[in-house]
Amino acid sequence: MADDPKAPAQMPQSILELSAFNPVARDNPHPLLKSLRETCPVMRDEAAKVWFLSRYKDIRDTVNDRTFVRHPTKAEAGSLSARFAEEGRERRTSILFLDDPDHARIRQPLAKAFYARINRMRPEIEAMIDAVIDAAPAAGRFDLMEKIAVPVPVLVIARILGVDESRLGDFRQWSEDVILGLNPVRTPEEDARLISGGEALDAYFSELMAARRKAPRDDLVSDMVQLQASGEADIADDEVRTNLEALLVGGNLTTTDLIGNGIWLLLTHPAQLAALRVHPELGAQAVEEVLRYEAPVSVTSRIVPGERIVAGCPMHAGQPVWMSLAAANRDPEVFDTAEAFDITRKRASHIAFGGGPHICIGAPLARIEARHVYLKLLEKYPALSLPKQDLVWRALPFFRGLETLIVET
Ligand code: HEM
Repeated sequence: MADDPKAPAQMPQSILELSAFNPVARDNPHPLLKSLRETCPVMRDEAAKVWFLSRYKDIRDTVNDRTFVRHPTKAEAGSLSARFAEEGRERRTSILFLDDPDHARIRQPLAKAFYARINRMRPEIEAMIDAVIDAAPAAGRFDLMEKIAVPVPVLVIARILGVDESRLGDFRQWSEDVILGLNPVRTPEEDARLISGGEALDAYFSELMAARRKAPRDDLVSDMVQLQASGEADIADDEVRTNLEALLVGGNLTTTDLIGNGIWLLLTHPAQLAALRVHPELGAQAVEEVLRYEAPVSVTSRIVPGERIVAGCPMHAGQPVWMSLAAANRDPEVFDTAEAFDITRKRASHIAFGGGPHICIGAPLARIEARHVYLKLLEKYPALSLPKQDLVWRALPFFRGLETLIVET
């Protein structure tokens, strides 16, 4: 029975085996996630002291449950989630980790100002994307990640926030450094990058907030310091700064991967590519299907608030529950032909942005950017194709994206 795909030897024993730490999962996590979902949908990883859920319904119920908490100091000592609290510098006022009432106090005014700006700036956002794609090579081979997927999100979020566009390279680097904070198993070198990137970001944003207080401009940093000054938003300086930084960092790598994964999927599914070329009105649905099929963020987590039955299992206060968004998004209980990439799917109620009070605040922006990139790119390159290449997926655990994607025009 050695080649039985459900043989116990193939079953993961720890959640790190399901991440990019394991070369097999880094290459393609889906077969492992499938066997887990089918045979062990509520897995206990004793070493990491976490539960790991892989069925859609269990995950949906858990993320939507407002009684679950998030702050790493509430997680059991020694667990993987508790490590988020041990990084040496206090970045834990990010809404990503806060619980109510602080979460709502910060998220509500921030989301209101952010969404108003995205709506107002949509034509400008699309024009920025057009400019990046216009500047990409007219013919030949090039790396789509380098020329388009990396520059678009950082340019867009920088313009929304009002950060200096001559510093885009630094911002991208600081984002890559700071997002290491979401890797609970870091090397000392990664710890050092996390700290120095965070300090550079803090210094830059402190200056920027002070400058906008003196002389407001038409940007989100000005919106937030004005809301603060008028008393409309009860948010301390460091909270404003951390959460503006969270927008910069949160939107970079993830949207880059939504663009890269989408173009890769379309180029490897010619019928889907052809359908989108003929029916550009399928653009928004194509984005949803990419999010379902190859979600840029593979997991999210919550912490059990008290003695509870979760997904049919007794769980205790402080135990972290990690959830595979990637496994949930291919659960056949919810999606017909779940293993097929199909942009014409009628209902794509995926969970790639999480859910409940912590649902991704950047989802509307990511959707606008990805849709416009896919359509504009196909318009510019009517014969875009994928030359033979060895794909290398990101090493950052629990994120799914390509290091490079060479395309041919
Ligand atoms: C394809 C792109 C993106 C994906 C797949 C993604 C995914 C996620 C996920 C899974 C969560 C956790 C949700 C939960 O636990 O329920 C999250 C939260 C968050 N995301 Fe995104 N994200 C994306 C783009 C963005 C963008 C563009 C921004 C900012 C401009 C952003 C900023 C954030 C922030 C600040 C949070 C924390 C929200 C909270 O806890 O209240 N994300 N995102």
